[in-house]
Amino acid sequence: MTESIYGAYAETLQQVMNRLVDSIKAYNTSRKEKNGEGAYEHLIYRIKSNDSMMEKCTRKGLPQTAHSALWDIHDAIGLRIVCCFLDDIYVNIDNIKAIPGCRVVEEKDYIKNVKPNGYRSYHMIIELEVPYEDANGDTPGHYFAEIQLRTIAMDSWASLEHQMKYKHNIKNPELIVRELKRCADELASCDVSMQTIRNLIHTDQ
Ligand code: GTP
Ligand code: MG
Repeated sequence: MTESIYGAYAETLQQVMNRLVDSIKAYNTSRKEKNGEGAYEHLIYRIKSNDSMMEKCTRKGLPQTAHSALWDIHDAIGLRIVCCFLDDIYVNIDNIKAIPGCRVVEEKDYIKNVKPNGYRSYHMIIELEVPYEDANGDTPGHYFAEIQLRTIAMDSWASLEHQMKYKHNIKNPELIVRELKRCADELASCDVSMQTIRNLIHTDQ
């Protein structure tokens, strides 16, 4: 078996991810108990695979070391929070920012600043202070995580677009790009309508 790029930190990395996931899940549960509705529809998470991390180090001109993987690259831990409604995305962002020991390093709002292909999502890089040693040998340590937040509609579009990106023998690429963009915009308009319907239901109660 080949040694993991995360080396001695592989287990800690898993623990850091679990702490973060537990905290986000606990918030979802507490909202469900209070309002009867959770903060999100589902949550997925992963540690970037050894092969993908080695490839990313090389692509970025970095040596294939635990220090590159955990300090220079910020998405060894990756979470995706898929929400029912647009407003829930911002509710989750506020909750994440309030997690003790969490500092936001970078935010990209591809919902307000839609990518030219129609991709929508909110991306955050956070730095977490944890009671474990980090790749610099410091305790408490600092670990990074990338969190993507999107609605179910944005998520279904991103999955299909991701699948189609890798089909290179398409006869009419301009048409496909245009149609994908049109679908993304239609789904975005549905998200706004669904949020409006939800607001109407809530004001009726
Ligand atoms: P890295 O250097 O790899 O971190 O890239 P970046 O920081 O320039 O990328 P960004 O934060 O914009 O996006 C990273 C992730 O978002 C990707 O790995 C995908 O999961 C997702 N993503 C970004 N753009 C698209 C897109 O156009 N389509 C789809 N399907 N996913 C996207
Ligand atoms: Mg990135």
